[in-house]
Amino acid sequence: MTTTKKLSVIGTGYVGLVYAVCMAELGHDVVAIDIDAEKIAKLGAGISTIYEPGLDDLLRKHLCSGRLRFTTAYEVAAADFVFLAVSTPSTPEGAADLRHVRAAVQQIGENTRGAHPIIVNKSTAPVGTSDTLDYLLARQNGVGGHEFEIVANPEFLREGSAVQDFFHPDRIVLGANDPAAAHAVAELYAPLEAEIVFTDPKTAEMIKYASNAFLATKISFINEIASICEGVGADIGDVARAMGMDPRIGSRFLNPGLGFGGSCLPKDVRALNYLGAVHGAHPQLLNAVLQINADQRRRVIRILRDSLGSLESRVITLLGLAFKPGTDDIRDAPAVDLARLLMNEGAIVHAYDPFAMRSFSALFPQVEMFEDAYAAAGHADALVVATEWEEFATLDLERLHKIMQTPLIADCRNVLERARVLDAGFACFGVGTGIAGLGAVQRRTTRRVRTVPATNQTGVAAS
Ligand SMILES: NC(=O)c1ccc[n+]([C@@H]2O[C@H](COP(=O)([O-])OP(=O)(O)OC[C@H]3O[C@@H](n4cnc5c(N)ncnc54)[C@H](O)[C@@H]3O)[C@@H](O)[C@H]2O)c1
Repeated sequence: MTTTKKLSVIGTGYVGLVYAVCMAELGHDVVAIDIDAEKIAKLGAGISTIYEPGLDDLLRKHLCSGRLRFTTAYEVAAADFVFLAVSTPSTPEGAADLRHVRAAVQQIGENTRGAHPIIVNKSTAPVGTSDTLDYLLARQNGVGGHEFEIVANPEFLREGSAVQDFFHPDRIVLGANDPAAAHAVAELYAPLEAEIVFTDPKTAEMIKYASNAFLATKISFINEIASICEGVGADIGDVARAMGMDPRIGSRFLNPGLGFGGSCLPKDVRALNYLGAVHGAHPQLLNAVLQINADQRRRVIRILRDSLGSLESRVITLLGLAFKPGTDDIRDAPAVDLARLLMNEGAIVHAYDPFAMRSFSALFPQVEMFEDAYAAAGHADALVVATEWEEFATLDLERLHKIMQTPLIADCRNVLERARVLDAGFACFGVGTGIAGLGAVQRRTTRRVRTVPATNQTGVAAS
């Protein structure tokens, strides 16, 4: 049976919100805190601010059960545990920016009023951050040495299956100098029956960075192999599948595509790269992983330019804006880079995504959004599949062929059956398979004076 504890969760983004809601489901009393008053008002009214399968129902359930509250006030004095889940974005140099962590810790220090909750850090932060938190809290309260117990508890949830991941974690990592504090946190997770790794804070922090860097490396590796496959005429699909059958390699994260994106892998590899460099290492592998990832986006621009002659005033439709299916998150998404690069070449960008159009529109007001893939593809010179949403695999290609200006598809996630695309009369680019059927594009070389119809535009779909 769960012993109910009082938890304060600082930050109600993808991690903090999921965590707060799921901890309420485990039977704890949770107060979720954020500086964003608009977000807190929505969440308090039962409106989820992110798209995450299964989250809405649990959010409403626990607002009703009374086990979950949202506030902008730092209600930490009565808490047994304070969880930090604020953002740690990249600085221009690639380091993890601890501004939000420092601000949150200052608020915790000012509002604990003599109480000593265990501070649990879930934000991904550089190795040594637990010591920094310890120091900051003690200094703020005028204590010479150590005052609060700090536990590093890195988060491994995957957006798109975050609720499922919370209840079925692969492992839980707890790094603390005080074993009693680590075991107190472990008690909270007891109902999950997960394997727990008890270690010291620095090692826990490193486990998070090393895990993300390894996943990113796997993606850049298969993308590099895909490029070589294109050159030599080997089949990347079979290569990846057969490699994945080796249990030492494993099949996951071996899909060639546009490279890794999202709020974690890019910034965490950059942060580890920076951390290594300023601690005397020469992280050549991490540099290459980042470089390959950036090139994966750029080469699509070259392929489109080479196929169409020039991208000036060409309409390019992006299908998929989220960094992966199952989420509305566009942070460091390949589509963000593609849109920027395409517009820099003079292209007109149209787009469709089932969930991410609102945030994309906020970033790129000049990109027109459409209600579905077909509306977005009308009069386009190329279709670029940038996210592997399931609905794109079954697109009606004959219908697309009729409505597009130029029959060119860059299937950058390899979701479409290549033979089907070519049979439908398209030129087709695939990652690892290269471009084929260019004759189809050349047959429509006469460039008509373009009038882009405004009637298709639907505005931004609600997410
Ligand atoms: N998103 C993921 O999939 C994921 C997975 C594992 C780890 N992480 C890590 O978890 C941390 C949070 O990530 P996220 O994706 O939830 O970020 P996010 O940007 O979605 O959410 C962060 C929230 O913190 C709030 N915030 C910022 N400063 C604050 C302060 N001083 N006090 C209270 N609230 C404050 C923001 O308003 C925002 O709502 C990051 O360090 C990230 O690297 C994220």
